[in-house]
Amino acid sequence: MSVGQVGVGIVGAGIVGCGAYRCLTTNPHAIERRAGGPVRVVQVADIDWAREREVDIPAELRTEDAFALTRNPEVHVVIEAVGGTTVARDVIRSAIEHGKSVVTPNKELIARHGAELLDAAREAEVDLEFEGSVGGVIPIVRSLKESLVATQINALYGILNGTTNYILTRMSREEVPFEEALAEAQAKGYAEQDPSADIEGHDAANKIAILAAIAFGRRVTIDEAYREGISKIAPADIRYARDLGYVIKLLAIAKRGDNQIELRVHPALIRLDHPLAAVNDVYNAVFVEGVESGNVMLYGRGAGSLPTGTAVAGDVVDCARNIFRGSPGRVPCTCQGEAVVRPIEEIEAPNYIRMRVKDRPGVMGAIATLFGAEQVSLESVVQEGSFGEEAEIVWVTHRVKESALRAALRRISELDVVVRVENCIRAEA
Ligand code: HSE
Repeated sequence: MSVGQVGVGIVGAGIVGCGAYRCLTTNPHAIERRAGGPVRVVQVADIDWAREREVDIPAELRTEDAFALTRNPEVHVVIEAVGGTTVARDVIRSAIEHGKSVVTPNKELIARHGAELLDAAREAEVDLEFEGSVGGVIPIVRSLKESLVATQINALYGILNGTTNYILTRMSREEVPFEEALAEAQAKGYAEQDPSADIEGHDAANKIAILAAIAFGRRVTIDEAYREGISKIAPADIRYARDLGYVIKLLAIAKRGDNQIELRVHPALIRLDHPLAAVNDVYNAVFVEGVESGNVMLYGRGAGSLPTGTAVAGDVVDCARNIFRGSPGRVPCTCQGEAVVRPIEEIEAPNYIRMRVKDRPGVMGAIATLFGAEQVSLESVVQEGSFGEEAEIVWVTHRVKESALRAALRRISELDVVVRVENCIRAEA
């Protein structure tokens, strides 16, 4: 295909669609130099043009028909900025069928249907790029696919959800209650429409599944990722963790094993001197452990109109460059076979455990005996404060198999002197 300019169509003029529009229209000369020719937004589709927007999209570019846009011969690259997995999937399929390259920041869609869509793109010899789907502006997808391709990646640790990182940072620094911090994150436009996608870790799980597939070269089934959210984290946990030399983050983890991978999202204690401990507010980061590369960390804004728009626009330039050179579809999906995800019961980590107990002689001994009976080795224990006839005890274990810890906690919960196990948080990184 020989074209004089690459036409871009944007489907969805929401926060990300408008951000991409701004990035593509603000620096057209720099983009032209990099792409090897002019790149112009030629059409924008949305079903609601009455809504107020941060950018003024000229009337002649507007349409309400997304599928007219995917058929438009002036459009060579389609940006899917609809979100969700229904209309967005149809838009991408239609664009590919009409020979367009596609850029999407849609993590849920790529995590669930990426394999199918990438296969369709390969057959149609077009590009399907999704840098903005993970970590907003952070160039982690391209880094894993290209810059770090010559190293064996053994583990990825990501702070991949800005909303929960913002909430945990606010809870930790200003002791703001959870609900207030969530409301602030929503007001700033970081949160998903359904806050449980952030709070319960679905958003981060989609993102780490995408990264694991690329890093390990295997297709990953997102439903196999283990997931725990942050709603059980109490100010007390944050305080105790700090006293022990840790911060609590919602961590997304992917690790290479012999025959299996680990894929999980849960709150985790991170040592205060680890680089990830300094990632605060809405910022995201990915810490990569590679054999030849050593450790690499990428850091930046994980959400928001312009950061995500920057990533989307960068992908558009890559697609445009390939179109100008007549070589779209040159980097197909390289994930071969399916990844087998290790069951959570089989993973090993040190753990922090906070429990409420009756404040009586012999209680600590009784609990420690049950930990020992299940082969859970203890590193430290502190008793902090009294609550009437009750006390709070915080244990830190050595590295322990999850199944052994769960067995111990089941037996401990049955002791008369144990009021309840309040929280149990793995330590990582
Ligand atoms: N809700 C997401 C976050 C937005 O908080 O990080 C970007 O995916």
